[in-house]
Amino acid sequence: MQALRDGGLVILPTETVYGLAGNAADPVAVAAIFEAKGRPRFNPLISHVADLAMAETLAVFDDRARKLAEAFWPGPLTLVLPIAPDTAVCDLARAGLDTVALRIPAHPLARQLLVAFGGPVVAPSANRSGRPSPTIYADAMEETGDKVRAALDGGPCEIGLESTVVALLDAPRLLRPGSVTRAQIEALIGPLAEADADAKRSPGRLARHYSPRAPVRLEAMGAEPGEAYLAFGPGAHRWNLSPTGDLREAAARLFAYLREADRTDPSAIAVAPIPREGLGEAINDRLKRAAGFVG
Ligand code: TXA
Ligand code: MG
Repeated sequence: MQALRDGGLVILPTETVYGLAGNAADPVAVAAIFEAKGRPRFNPLISHVADLAMAETLAVFDDRARKLAEAFWPGPLTLVLPIAPDTAVCDLARAGLDTVALRIPAHPLARQLLVAFGGPVVAPSANRSGRPSPTIYADAMEETGDKVRAALDGGPCEIGLESTVVALLDAPRLLRPGSVTRAQIEALIGPLAEADADAKRSPGRLARHYSPRAPVRLEAMGAEPGEAYLAFGPGAHRWNLSPTGDLREAAARLFAYLREADRTDPSAIAVAPIPREGLGEAINDRLKRAAGFVG
């Protein structure tokens, strides 16, 4: 906590992925995050807050935003909203936009830190830009551990995929699918428009993202010689995302297995087909990006 006050960075566990955290109100700390990740500065960061009262000092909530916040916070949903007149989130954290991305994480260590700190904390995933997000402490340390003043070990992340991002600026848009599913959101606020229609509003949706070093081959029914194989469903494999075909389990394992497979220096990482419904939308989104296809 003191590390954050001093402008330092902290490795922070959340229920989705490990974050690289800094004071959202301090442009020097925020600049250090962009630098540590090698992240392009046009790609804004998510501000994490302790509670709805703090969130409402940073952004303007309409009825749709309140409904989603009540239903899913604390949890893996990020809302992109118009900034409040004296928002504490600095310009650089927002990449100069007049909107801000907010979420209340559910992980107890993250919540404790946010409550103690008492202000907004930016935390992009703790990977270097373009690499898979870390979902275990060791992977977070390997990515950006040398750039931080403190690191919190919260064990493996329960969800394993980054939060769902929804923009509520005009028509609601799904900017990034996640474990809060499209269907869950649409049940509360009606149809979601696609992000692709307005790339400016989703600057994070670069084609190549979440990528291991090895090329990724999708919809693979098995491995070619030299390839590593990420299986899904019954069968004995070194990396089986879920032998029982459970999408939650597959999401939680995905990034750690991509990293493990990558470390064996395969000619490619072949990945079994994953169903597209529910959480499968988010898993397939990350896989497409890992493979280098535009989402
Ligand atoms: O699960 C998560 O959300 C993790 C954990 C650590 O909380 N954080 C995370 O942050 O994934 P990051 O920075 O890697 O992803 C933020 C996403 C990017 O796609 C970014 O473009 C988008 O949110 N974003 C942030 N602010 C935005 C804004 N004002 N307008 C549109 N998109 C925004
Ligand atoms: Mg990220």
